[in-house]
Amino acid sequence: MEENYVLRPHPLFYEMEEYAKENSIPIVSSATGKVLSHLLGLLKPKTIWELGTGIGYSTLWMAYGSPHSEITTIDRNGSQASLLEGYREKWDVLQKTDIRRITSWCMDYMYENIDLWSDVDLFFVDCDKVTYPQIWELLSLKAKPGAKIIYDNVLWHGRILNPELQKPSDVAIKSFWEKVKDSHFPFTLYPVGDGLLFIEKP
Ligand SMILES: C[S@@+](CC[C@H](N)C(=O)[O-])C[C@H]1O[C@@H](n2cnc3c(N)ncnc32)[C@H](O)[C@@H]1O
Repeated sequence: MEENYVLRPHPLFYEMEEYAKENSIPIVSSATGKVLSHLLGLLKPKTIWELGTGIGYSTLWMAYGSPHSEITTIDRNGSQASLLEGYREKWDVLQKTDIRRITSWCMDYMYENIDLWSDVDLFFVDCDKVTYPQIWELLSLKAKPGAKIIYDNVLWHGRILNPELQKPSDVAIKSFWEKVKDSHFPFTLYPVGDGLLFIEKP
């Protein structure tokens, strides 16, 4: 999908894209944001946990798609993630959603607080790619049956297709894919942005 054809529901999304570009902060593509928002609008999960807030761009797409969900979003960079609050205030539609922000390393927080998230309906994972396999092992084991798990960047700019590319992030994304396939959990790859993978725990 051409990013130019993605209808942003409010100018603040353009503002966030501009800020991310100027400050070299990676965010999901607008098309990925739109697909996320659409999927969540259909699923209407009661609870969502996001791993990797950034400046809250994906968080606000999710809030727009499913305003009555309770969203918890985790990022180790608290000052950057706090920008989310300012952006959210720019559009009253986003006030409906209960958004809780946590400053922590994802793996530490997830391991130490399994009881807080084991009943969560939907996870969106977009933190350091090196952590993807470990996060998958934990979520696939401890999330409840029926939980939806969505990962961004699963195509890793096409690097996963080249066996010679062996950076830690390349190895991690390839290992993540192997683990997902070995699990036999049903999944759908949305070839949007850098690849959005939707998995459902049976
Ligand atoms: C790709 S950005 C998230 C972008 C955001 N999901 C969006 O599309 O608007 C990745 C974020 O994850 C955070 N991060 C990376 N590894 C992390 C970890 N192990 N624990 C916590 N946060 C992490 C970084 O600080 C960064 O803000």
